[in-house]
Amino acid sequence: MAFLECNDVIKLYVEEQSKLQVPALRGIELTANEGELIAIIGPSGSGKSTLLNLIGGIDRPSTGDIILEDDVITKMKDRQLTLYRRHKVGFLYQLPERNLVWNLTAVKNVTLPMKLAGRWSHEQQKQRAQQLLKDVGLERRLNHKPSQLSGGEAQRTGIAVALANDPTIVLADEPTGELDSVTTFKIIEYFKLLNKQHGKTFIVVTHDNRFAKMTDKALRILDGRIVGLHRAVDPTETSSEREEVIFVDEQGTLRIPEDILRQGGIQNHVKIKIQDGVATIVPVRDD
Ligand SMILES: Nc1ncnc2c1ncn2[C@@H]1O[C@H](COP(=O)(O)OP(=O)(O)OP(=O)(O)O)[C@@H](O)[C@H]1O
Ligand SMILES: [Mg+2]
Repeated sequence: MAFLECNDVIKLYVEEQSKLQVPALRGIELTANEGELIAIIGPSGSGKSTLLNLIGGIDRPSTGDIILEDDVITKMKDRQLTLYRRHKVGFLYQLPERNLVWNLTAVKNVTLPMKLAGRWSHEQQKQRAQQLLKDVGLERRLNHKPSQLSGGEAQRTGIAVALANDPTIVLADEPTGELDSVTTFKIIEYFKLLNKQHGKTFIVVTHDNRFAKMTDKALRILDGRIVGLHRAVDPTETSSEREEVIFVDEQGTLRIPEDILRQGGIQNHVKIKIQDGVATIVPVRDD
């Protein structure tokens, strides 16, 4: 069994006014190994936050199961789910205001979740907080309050907060949405570093296609479904050659993310050439 599994996860919301059902997730199949850094990339409304909230135990799917280690989190009672969220999951959101308490210093922000979980002695909490802030390169900012930090520093403090209770998995929802390119790149480098150093599984959801090239594995989400995968052609090779794998569903449907359509020059038609049992897709230019 994989470390994390989502089996045919469906989430329907009921819109309050119209009472109509909105399908946010339409059958998510996903597996992750321990210690993997996975980006899930998709446009606005594709279901990224919904999926992350289900994996993090903030909400429950309509049907389907989510299993982390041996815990079937979708079958947990509310009380168990609260403990799961507190001890096993670290969250990082787009806005620093959501990750940090504004009138507390960086160190106090990182010790806060440890205090709530009551896991370590006062002295250990302080030491852990200092070490975590050092791990994200903020050893000189320990006593700064969020308003005295740059956007990137505030997000790095948020990463230290997410790791405070030694979670099994870290879930980040659009963590670089507010940041410029250079700072975004730096945050991704920290994810990679901490992912290796702490052996934590990181799942980052984003609309930012640059994550595809910068992470080992990037899943494509579109319209509530995982539709493809961006990865190194041969992970054992040092070559930087990358490929997109697009999944075909039972009806034979391919859903191709917009940026791949653009990159591949695909407009309204493609030609499928079949030769010796091998199919090749060739864009047909409409002009
Ligand atoms: N509480 C809710 N009630 C009704 N519909 C919802 C609710 N939350 C999300 N949705 C709908 O579910 C779909 C997926 O939403 P979700 O927030 O997961 O997308 P997203 O990929 O995170 O988008 P964004 O990039 O804009 O954050 C959207 O169509 C959205 O309108
Ligand atoms: Mg979202």
